[in-house]
Amino acid sequence: MQTAYGAGAPLPVAFAAGDEGAWTIRSMEIRRGDPLAPAIRLDVTEGDGARGAARGSWTLRGVTSNMRYTTRGEATSMTSKQAGLGRPQAHFAALIPIRKSPAWWAMPQDERRAIYEERSRHTSIGMEYLPAIARRLHHSRDLGEPFDFLTWFEYAPEDEPQFEHLLARLRAREEWEYVDREIDIRLARAGPI
Ligand code: HEM
Repeated sequence: MQTAYGAGAPLPVAFAAGDEGAWTIRSMEIRRGDPLAPAIRLDVTEGDGARGAARGSWTLRGVTSNMRYTTRGEATSMTSKQAGLGRPQAHFAALIPIRKSPAWWAMPQDERRAIYEERSRHTSIGMEYLPAIARRLHHSRDLGEPFDFLTWFEYAPEDEPQFEHLLARLRAREEWEYVDREIDIRLARAGPI
């Protein structure tokens, strides 16, 4: 049965790595925890197609969801600044699957928010890099997946140094002490640039 995925409705997304796909894998850095098998291409499927059988050397699945830690003020600021996915100049992308530790998940929501924003400034720091970096967050934890989040970013090649700067800042904060598996996969749109 075809499902309608309206604006704001949870959108299933599958990331399948192997020999084919619209994205070429430029690099894969194992930052923490177990690796993923190497591959040369990545295929991204949204909607009903994302529920299909696993393909290639590995397939990671996630779903877009409602916000957990964002206040009205932050949401309004982000909406006024952020760019959407699929911009023609955004030839580069990053897929960064992340798992957080049992200690993180043992905390109630208010304590997690305090670490995430009041102490680590995740949203405030991230907003400095909009609209150059476009983003979409996929949740995987409740799907029984190996990672809790599949984070996806798109940007123009000349903005990659900015993206490195953003990552360095986020990874230096308290929130990242709770990251126990992280793989940084960099991509380029396959085909003529
Ligand atoms: C481009 C600038 C960025 C902005 C504006 C941004 C903003 C946000 C926001 C608003 C949320 C919370 C959504 C909610 O309320 O549930 C979030 C969650 C998250 N972001 Fe970012 N982010 C950015 C970059 C990054 C980067 C570079 C990473 C690293 C790989 C990252 C990893 C995550 C993760 C793992 C979560 C889920 C946190 C959790 O629920 O525990 N973000 N981000």
